[in-house]
Amino acid sequence: MTGELSPIDKAKFVAAKKACDYVESGMRVGLGSGSTAAWLVKCLGELVREDGLKIKGVPTSTRTAALAREVGIEVISLDEAKWLDVTIDGADEYDANLNLIKGGGGSLLQEKIVATASDQMVVIADIGKQVETLGAFPLPIEVIPFGWQTTKALVEESLISMDVLGRNSTLRLNGDTPFVTDEGNFILDLHLNRIANGRQLSLVLNQMPGVVENGLFIDICDAVVIGYGDGKVEVRDINAGTVEETRLDFVENDNLFMDLTD
Ligand code: 5RP
Repeated sequence: MTGELSPIDKAKFVAAKKACDYVESGMRVGLGSGSTAAWLVKCLGELVREDGLKIKGVPTSTRTAALAREVGIEVISLDEAKWLDVTIDGADEYDANLNLIKGGGGSLLQEKIVATASDQMVVIADIGKQVETLGAFPLPIEVIPFGWQTTKALVEESLISMDVLGRNSTLRLNGDTPFVTDEGNFILDLHLNRIANGRQLSLVLNQMPGVVENGLFIDICDAVVIGYGDGKVEVRDINAGTVEETRLDFVENDNLFMDLTD
């Protein structure tokens, strides 16, 4: 089964598998969204079903909620959990300070709320997500549909005074119609190429009336688990200042490796 996985999927899988070390019985766990987070949910589901791990999961999207239920994880809302022990999620980019761009899958709002309500946020990623400076990946911002074109123009205007290398933005589409988030909003992707000051940009964007949230995660992430296609895994902990390397063996497991859609 694993022989069919691409190196990038193997990298995502080993990162997700290793990140399960952060989870213990009794914990309330934020479950991220996207393809790497889907591996995590599957790995945790296996631990629940086969090793008796007892956790409550707070999903960050309807898609993750469906997958979590499917693999046997008890799903609760953030309001039921109130506070979480750890959130484990993917990212579109991370830098040396573990600042992130997220939202490639359109779930940035719930992801940010859940990560912020956690003792710890752990990012799982393949090494291709690592950047020196954030911004090559278009920065997603969630905007309310009302007046979105006006919001778009105001956002682009506000970028004039920001230290970025592009100011163009595009409405994210789902076929011919706007992509709609779980909260019923739209996503604008900002093509900035280089973000010199993410903290400042995040504050400026969130001051715009039509902007609900942006995909910059500044000082939220505590550790990144980086997977490689050959099974190597690196864990960087920004608080402890440690970097640990290990290697995971692939174990063929039909339950885990079947039906992964993205
Ligand atoms: C969704 C996200 C994802 O975590 C991010 O897009 C990474 O996704 P993937 O693991 O599929 O590369 O932020 O909103």
